[in-house]
Amino acid sequence: MTACPHAGIDPFAARVHGPDEPGAPHAALRAAGPVVEVAAPAGGHALVVTRADLAREVWNHPDLVKDPAWAPASWDRTTGVVEPTAAEAPSLSTLDGPAHLALRRAHAPMFAPRRIRELAAGIEATVRELLAGAGPGEVVDLVPTVTVPFPATVLLDLVGAPRSCLATIVEACAGMQAGDPAAFGSFFAVAGAAVGEGDGIAAELAGRLDGADPVYQVFSVLFVGQLTTQPLLGLVLARALAAPGLAADDVVEQVLREHPPAPFGLWRFAVRDTSVGGVAVAAGTPVLVDLVSAQQDTEVTLAFGGGPHVCIGAHLARLELAAAVRVLRAEYPDARLAVDHDALVARRRAGTDGSRLDELPVVLVPAG
Ligand code: HEM
Repeated sequence: MTACPHAGIDPFAARVHGPDEPGAPHAALRAAGPVVEVAAPAGGHALVVTRADLAREVWNHPDLVKDPAWAPASWDRTTGVVEPTAAEAPSLSTLDGPAHLALRRAHAPMFAPRRIRELAAGIEATVRELLAGAGPGEVVDLVPTVTVPFPATVLLDLVGAPRSCLATIVEACAGMQAGDPAAFGSFFAVAGAAVGEGDGIAAELAGRLDGADPVYQVFSVLFVGQLTTQPLLGLVLARALAAPGLAADDVVEQVLREHPPAPFGLWRFAVRDTSVGGVAVAAGTPVLVDLVSAQQDTEVTLAFGGGPHVCIGAHLARLELAAAVRVLRAEYPDARLAVDHDALVARRRAGTDGSRLDELPVVLVPAG
């Protein structure tokens, strides 16, 4: 077995950076080696892989599972993992193997190409309305006016919850990230409304579940979808304005590669003594993938992960991010950043989340 170097840096430290700089010291991690030991935010040590081939090994590894029940006893669950264990709340991001596959199949109609196509026209209309309401002709901050409400509205439509729940889920998402336990209740109320009174898609999901709580599944989709797409959208719109010649889809792919909103994916834990990339991994060791580093080895975008847990919302996320760029450019062809692109401030909280812009001040010049 090969020895594993220590990173010598804290890749999970909070950081303030420019929109073209990486949100974590990925270059230092990659330079340290293909499998690197780091101090885990939840205590103890963890391993991070920094190459695309090892990312795939981790994603498909039979001895590495998502269930936080396998985390080391010293693991501080409030810092390290937001999720309950699979026994407490079985979900896509805690189950593995056949139970996970069955749950993916149950979710499939919600994310089917047909469902996403049905949402597409509404997605463009939503971003158009939000931009129109933001205050054309003035300097407006697109973070509170567009990047926060837009993905949340799309998610409500996806799960079939009433749009009147928008403020509730926006506040609940911010509350959960700030560690407010009351935020769970608000999110669950919206998920419950989707399952009980929505347009049917969440209720249909409920009918396909074998023991898992439908409200918890819908909550997970709402939370994960907002947590990822919202921060990325700010960076995508900033890049779209700074690089007007770059096609909308290319803006999205470029920013996904540079600023994946889950830059280390989600935690996995070794269920027995095993190995990754020829490096010994003791039972209970937490393992992450450094997506920004691994991305250097391949043209394929790794921001959505891979293997059985590859992001189920990737198609929707790409569609809505590109739609936001297209509508902004079509409706406001002379829109410009109100500050230099380099003066924009991106901020990353301590932990494994990605970066988000503090503000995105833009002058929305109406067409014509
Ligand atoms: C740009 C936006 C997004 C990015 C970069 C992203 C990234 C990811 C990644 C990296 C994973 C895999 C985690 C792992 O196991 O290591 C994941 C899983 C997941 N994502 Fe996304 N995501 C995005 C948007 C969304 C949206 C919009 C939704 C829902 C509407 C969503 C729902 C999920 C769910 C439910 C899982 C768990 C899948 C499973 O474990 O089987 N994501 N996402």
